[in-house]
Amino acid sequence: MDKTTRSRDPFAGRENLVDRTDETWRPPLHAPPGGKLERIASATRRFFDVQAGSIWRDLAPELRQLRGTLVDVGCGAQPYRPLLGPDVEYIGIDIAEVEERFGYAIPGTRYFSGETWPVADAGADTVLATETLEHVVDPSRFMREAHRCLRPGGKLILTVPFSARWHFVPHDYWRFTPSSLALLLVENGFAKPRVYARGNALTVAAYKTMALVLTRLFPQNGTRAKRITSVAVGIPGVPFVVLGAAIANLSLRSAGGDDCLGYTVVAESSLERR
Ligand SMILES: C[S@@+](CC[C@H](N)C(=O)[O-])C[C@H]1O[C@@H](n2cnc3c(N)ncnc32)[C@H](O)[C@@H]1O
Repeated sequence: MDKTTRSRDPFAGRENLVDRTDETWRPPLHAPPGGKLERIASATRRFFDVQAGSIWRDLAPELRQLRGTLVDVGCGAQPYRPLLGPDVEYIGIDIAEVEERFGYAIPGTRYFSGETWPVADAGADTVLATETLEHVVDPSRFMREAHRCLRPGGKLILTVPFSARWHFVPHDYWRFTPSSLALLLVENGFAKPRVYARGNALTVAAYKTMALVLTRLFPQNGTRAKRITSVAVGIPGVPFVVLGAAIANLSLRSAGGDDCLGYTVVAESSLERR
């Protein structure tokens, strides 16, 4: 080993991320479904927040045709509830720690501690979980709970991110691939798994460009001087945000690629678990 190899510390000046207990930037929380103003705010957000927009786009046709009882697990602000028709009985459930860890406190939510959901066996026709599975320490256990709560033949609808920042730190544990999603589903009693990519490499490139500017424009940490500098650096990037959003939204019309924003998953609860 020569002298330069021995003396160079590749980790010098770099943070050990295991020590991180909070995030440096967080996008605004979703607002709960409400009146006309909230609907306009939600549509504007979906244009710029392409993750949320792509989820809405995939879920709209799926959710509109549902009947019976739907359990929205890890419901947060229940952002996709407005897509449900009047024939659906909606049950939003979430962990007892949701306000402290994720900032949501939505009236009508059923809270639970531990991993057992407050839902009867076979009590749901549909289980929905949007952008939740990556925050669950034991995803296999979560799938078994979904299977227990669903009637045989009931539908599980999931969305998970793929190209997403480490978020809600430290409560962001996994990124899934179509292979791991199919494994998790089949091993825990689900049949006919379908996994669809949301967006492609162009969507991801546009989304990341926008994120680069938006995090400058809305700094949440640092001294006043640092934040002013950050905004000044971000302002020339505003046209890129608008252009990026337009490109990203257009690219969502494509079939989806191997590099994508995330996945939308649909599966059926089968009678027996393997
Ligand atoms: C990023 S938020 C998503 C909220 C909402 N579904 C949405 O699409 O905006 C993640 C949600 O997962 C929930 N969560 C975290 N751990 C969970 C667990 N073990 N079981 C169920 N939900 C959980 C959180 O409380 C939070 O509401």
